[in-house]
Amino acid sequence: MTTKTAEIPKEFHVSPFVCNRYLVDGELKTWKGNTTEVFSTILTPNTEGEMAPTLLGSIPDMETPDALEALKAAEKAFQRGQGLWPTMRVGERLKCMETFVQKMKLHREEIVKLLMWEICKNKSDSYKEFDRTVDYIVDTIEAYKNLDRKGAKFDKQGNVYAHIRRGPLGVVLCLGPYNYPLNETFCLLIPAIIMGNTAIFKPAKHGVLLIAPLLKAFQESFPPGVVNILFGRGRKIAAPIMQTGAVDVLALIGHSSSAVSLQDQHPNKNRLRLVLGLEAKNPGIILPDADLDLTIKECISGTLSYNGQRCTALKVLYVHESIVDEFNRLFSKAVDELKFGMPWEDTFLTPLPEPSKPDYIEGLIEDAISKGAKVLNKKGGDRTENYTFPAVLYPVTENMKVYNEEQFGPVIPIVSYKEIDEPLDAMAASEYGQQVSLFGRDIRKIGPLIDTLANLVCRVNLNSACQRGPDVYPFTGRKNSAVSTLSVYDALRSFSIRTFVASKDTAYNKEILESLLNSETSNFVSTEYLL
Ligand code: G3H
Repeated sequence: MTTKTAEIPKEFHVSPFVCNRYLVDGELKTWKGNTTEVFSTILTPNTEGEMAPTLLGSIPDMETPDALEALKAAEKAFQRGQGLWPTMRVGERLKCMETFVQKMKLHREEIVKLLMWEICKNKSDSYKEFDRTVDYIVDTIEAYKNLDRKGAKFDKQGNVYAHIRRGPLGVVLCLGPYNYPLNETFCLLIPAIIMGNTAIFKPAKHGVLLIAPLLKAFQESFPPGVVNILFGRGRKIAAPIMQTGAVDVLALIGHSSSAVSLQDQHPNKNRLRLVLGLEAKNPGIILPDADLDLTIKECISGTLSYNGQRCTALKVLYVHESIVDEFNRLFSKAVDELKFGMPWEDTFLTPLPEPSKPDYIEGLIEDAISKGAKVLNKKGGDRTENYTFPAVLYPVTENMKVYNEEQFGPVIPIVSYKEIDEPLDAMAASEYGQQVSLFGRDIRKIGPLIDTLANLVCRVNLNSACQRGPDVYPFTGRKNSAVSTLSVYDALRSFSIRTFVASKDTAYNKEILESLLNSETSNFVSTEYLL
């Protein structure tokens, strides 16, 4: 699929943008070294008039000494717990965050446009990603106020008073994924800094330029060194930072192989807290009495929203043998009816942002066919330069790559089962344990199944597709799928530790505590109720 410039609505035209700035120690520095060009896989006429990937601009290809300078800035801002930011009153930190979110809102249109070009997300979902992120920040501010209010008191057990709060952990290295380059990165970065940590943040492989409009907002909203933003390759930036042992929290949404290799670089693993959202192979289990119309609708959205490039996507469907033929017929028809187009046309299917993805998906299809599967839908596997039309594969068996690998793209493996133990055994043997979708009605079957499934994954979606939202609900996983829990509420806990002041109930201590509370000498000891 190609597009001609004339077909692009004026408001979505792009011209190459040189991002030559990065943020370290509160300073927006100008990068003078090597750069990397950023292309969209969307084809437009190049200077020779040939259709080619669209040049969107360039980003710094930063080197290890620059990364270590950013680390030093984050360490200096935390200053072993003595820095301005980690000791600041919670209310003051929240004001900084409120300033940031106001400034961020001003960049909605340019960020949405870059989401469409850089990662080919359709228009509605790009706006949704931006708005959801703003809501997430606003909700996080409220959640922290609540958390702080709960800590604004003294407890007494035996003859010991305790003033218990949550404190920061230190320096956070924050790495996000390309499929939600704004939202998921900020779901790590925002709670991390709001809790008083300092951070070094490097955007993902794709969806990088869209961070550039926010550099100034970060600079103007937070004290120097609280947020440091770098551009470049993981091996030159993230790995050397980890090797210093100065990182207290690795916050990463991406693949477990990256998370493990970064952990391995850290010399003191016992000191490293992990907040990880990793890969998954969420199954859909379709029982014989499932409402097929509803199931097809949810399976389309579950398998193919954003072309299946979601960690929560349904990546394998187990359909009972008694209904598999009917399911396959209806599902294949529904897939072939899906519209492909450019992100600004707001079609359900859009180009794939990774240049190598169409070949990879084609490889999965060929492997499955060579082992006995068929492509059920007419358009399945149709290729263009930047796309492979979703292929419905059946019957899929354990020896096929698409059964085992997280495809993260438009191909849907269908497995037929006779006994419910077949999908359950597969889930128990799987490396992943994020979520499942269960389609059916009979509570005598569903009831005991839920009891088992809840112990194999962390969210059982009844007659609905898997998803992360609403963002107030816990988002986590078992096995290789996650470490720690993310939600508006849980992330504040994941990025902090309980720490408290205790004192024996003596007249001497009481007098001191009372004076402390009546003075403003401690920001930690406070019973102030945040409004
Ligand atoms: O890539 C994984 C995302 O967390 C999925 O989030 O379910 O809201 O699309 P979502």
